[in-house]
Amino acid sequence: MINPANRVKTIELSQIRKMFEVNNSNAINLGIGEPDFDTPKHIKDSVINALDNGFTGYTPNKGLFELREAISDKLKKDNNVNVNPDSIIVTVGASEALYMCAQALINPGDEVIVPNPSFLSYDACVRLANGISVSADLKFENDFKMTLEDVEDKITDKTKCIILNSPSNPTGSVMDKKDVKSISKFADDENILIISDEIYEKIIYDVKHYSPAEFTENAILINGFSKAYAMTGFRIAYVTAREEIIEELLKIHQYNTACASSISQYGALTALKESQDCVKSMVSEFKLRRNLITNSLNDMGWECSSPDGAFYIFPNVGNGHKFVKEAFKNDVICVPGEAFGSNGKEFVRFSYANSYENIETAMKRLKNVKI
Ligand SMILES: Cc1ncc(COP(=O)(O)O)c(C=O)c1O
Repeated sequence: MINPANRVKTIELSQIRKMFEVNNSNAINLGIGEPDFDTPKHIKDSVINALDNGFTGYTPNKGLFELREAISDKLKKDNNVNVNPDSIIVTVGASEALYMCAQALINPGDEVIVPNPSFLSYDACVRLANGISVSADLKFENDFKMTLEDVEDKITDKTKCIILNSPSNPTGSVMDKKDVKSISKFADDENILIISDEIYEKIIYDVKHYSPAEFTENAILINGFSKAYAMTGFRIAYVTAREEIIEELLKIHQYNTACASSISQYGALTALKESQDCVKSMVSEFKLRRNLITNSLNDMGWECSSPDGAFYIFPNVGNGHKFVKEAFKNDVICVPGEAFGSNGKEFVRFSYANSYENIETAMKRLKNVKI
């Protein structure tokens, strides 16, 4: 029998992955966290082109300079953030960026403020670095938007970072500008870092996304291509922060992955440089589905407000685990909210990265669910 490292022993594999493995061909899967669209053709073509032209070797550790330049332009234009291409590392998904931050920044016993509920990787990455994750209890009454009040009283002299995720997985909430600003100022005052996971930035409806990197140099900004351009399998994202932080992150990146996939980097370059119409059309389709699922759930009496971003909705169903079981009996798959933290107990997460027709059918099936 092997004796794994103590820090690994306590980590559980994701419950969400299990949703992919269920063997029920009649079930409509509203558990999946990736766009159901194909990667836009011009992006795929650029990857084929990169292969044909022999761009199959290692790239610089930080990533292709052209790509980092394009990311730097994007950050200026979309986020009002000025960064030098040398302060950007292209990563193997946002997943690698998160892991890298935890490994490079957290000492044993350091505390990290993690939104509760939130994406599972945050807590796992903190614990894999022997850090302690401290819940910021997000409030249903405030549509689970993180505020300064949620974090302020969690700070101790051991606090190293605060994690922000807007638009959010699993709730779809988008933080207000005033909250992003006040948490940024607080991070400055207290000399705490912010790790801002902005992977859903582009999937947003009628409101604006703000990055803390606009307001503080203590922010580490993570963004990528998986969700906005339906490129989950390309495994491509990036992280940017002030230079002294990037130099430390690079040590983890260099010895962990050397560099992100060369051909995926060419795909990402095309995604940024060419027309953004593909993003617009995916987002407008997501919006129709968001409206359908919000109205249907509310009509059934499952309380939720209309999420402003991502492709998730997080209704209050009283008992998340029981609801998931009943939904499954009716051939609908969703994820218990508790998978995202203790504050998700009464909730379930539906992903609407599935066709309009399937969502309509799923909602009809859910009318039979009584708990
Ligand atoms: C909030 C959040 N951050 C990061 C990721 C990981 O993204 P990537 O595919 O770029 O590793 C996900 C994927 O579901 C996510 O929901």
